[in-house]
Amino acid sequence: MTGPLSGVRTAVNPLRQLTIDQLRQRTSLKWREHPDDVLPLWVAEMDVPLAEPVALAITDAVARGDSGYTAGTAYPQALAEFARRRWGWDGLAVERTALVPDVMHGVVEALRLVTEPGDAVVVNCPVYPPFYEFVAHAGRRVVEAPLGDALRIDLDALEEAFRRARAGGRPAAYLLCSPHNPTGVVHSAAELTAVADLAERHGVRVVADEIHAPVVAGGARFVPYLSVPGAENGLSLMSASKGWNLAGLRGGLLIAGPAAAADLARVPFGVSVSTSHLGVIAHTAAFRDGGEWLDALLTGLDDNRRLLADLLAEHLPAVGYQPGQGTYLAWLDCRALGLGDDPATVFLDSARVALNSGLTFGTGGGGHVRLNLATAPELITEAVRRMAGVVG
Ligand SMILES: Cc1ncc(COP(=O)(O)O)c(C=O)c1O
Repeated sequence: MTGPLSGVRTAVNPLRQLTIDQLRQRTSLKWREHPDDVLPLWVAEMDVPLAEPVALAITDAVARGDSGYTAGTAYPQALAEFARRRWGWDGLAVERTALVPDVMHGVVEALRLVTEPGDAVVVNCPVYPPFYEFVAHAGRRVVEAPLGDALRIDLDALEEAFRRARAGGRPAAYLLCSPHNPTGVVHSAAELTAVADLAERHGVRVVADEIHAPVVAGGARFVPYLSVPGAENGLSLMSASKGWNLAGLRGGLLIAGPAAAADLARVPFGVSVSTSHLGVIAHTAAFRDGGEWLDALLTGLDDNRRLLADLLAEHLPAVGYQPGQGTYLAWLDCRALGLGDDPATVFLDSARVALNSGLTFGTGGGGHVRLNLATAPELITEAVRRMAGVVG
C-alpha cells in the first residue's frame, strides 16, 4: 500500500482486494483474537477495504478537524433515500428517527421505551448472542421462540412465546432479527405481516434489528418491518455498519412507526449526542454514495455462498448448510460429524480455523458453527480444506 486510500476501488469485488498479509496488519478483533496460524472466519467484520466514498468522507472530516459532537439529520435523510431506492419504501420519516451510538445500544434504548425492568423480550433462537447479553444488561428477561422449518420464523412457537411473555398482563417486546443472524434468512412480507398481526393481538411491541438489511442478495427482497400493515407501533434499528464494515466507526438509527412517535420522543438527548460524529459522517456517506460498492460486495458474497456450498458438498458432505439470501454469515449444522456440542472448539484447536460456536446462539445452537463469508474465496477454500482434514 502506498497511501492512505490506496487499495480503495469501486465496482470490483471488494472481497478480493486485500491479501492475507495486509489483513494480518489489522488491529481489530477479527484479526487480533487468534495467533497467525489461525484463519479467522468468525466475528462479523468484513475483509474489505473501506468503500471509497466512505474513506473520502472520513479523510475530509479529519482534514477539517471535524471531530466534535454530532448534529443534523444528514444520516436519516441518506437512509430514507437509500430505503426508497433499494426497497421501494418511502415510509422512513426523518422526524421519527433518533441517532443512537450503535445498533445494540439502540436496541437497549428501544426496549427501555416499551418495557419495564423484569419484563420479557422474545427472541427467535438460535440468534445473535448479544441479544441475550444486552437484554439481561437492560434488566429484562429473554423468552425463546425457536425457529421452525427451514430455519424460518415459527408462528406457532412465536405465539406461544408471546403468551408466556405477556403472562400476568405485563408489557413485553419481541426483538426481531431481520435478516436473521446467524441463518441469513430474509423474512418475507407475508411472514412480517403475520408477525405484526400476532404482536398486535397479543399486545407485544416489536423492536426490529435490521442492521443486515443492506446485505441482501440481488435476487431477494428485503422488506422493512415498518413497511408492513399492522407494524405502525413498531421500532426499527438500522445502520451502515454491516453493509460497509463500519463497526469501528459507530453509529445507528432508531426509527419509529407512526404510532411509536411518542415513545421515540422519550429517547434522552444524551443518547443521541453520544453517537460518534465521525461515525455519522461515515454511515451517511455509505448510504448516500456507497451503492455501487455495495452491489459489488453483494455479487462477491453470492459467489462465496455458492463456493461454500460446493466445497461442503465435496469435502464435508455431512455438514448441513441452507444458504440464506441475507447477511454474510453461514450457519453450519455439524451434528452429523460426531464432534460433539461445540465443533467450533475442535475446528479451532485442530484445524486452526476460528468460527463462532453455535452454543452461544441459544437453544438449538449446539452442534452448529457460524462461518463468516465476507472474505476472499481462497480463504474459504483453505478453511474448508482444513476443517475436512480434522474430520478425516
Ligand atoms: C443482528 C446484529 N445486531 C447488531 C449487531 C452489532 O451492531 P452494533 O455494532 O452497531 O452494535 C450485529 C453485529 O454483527 C448483528 O449481527
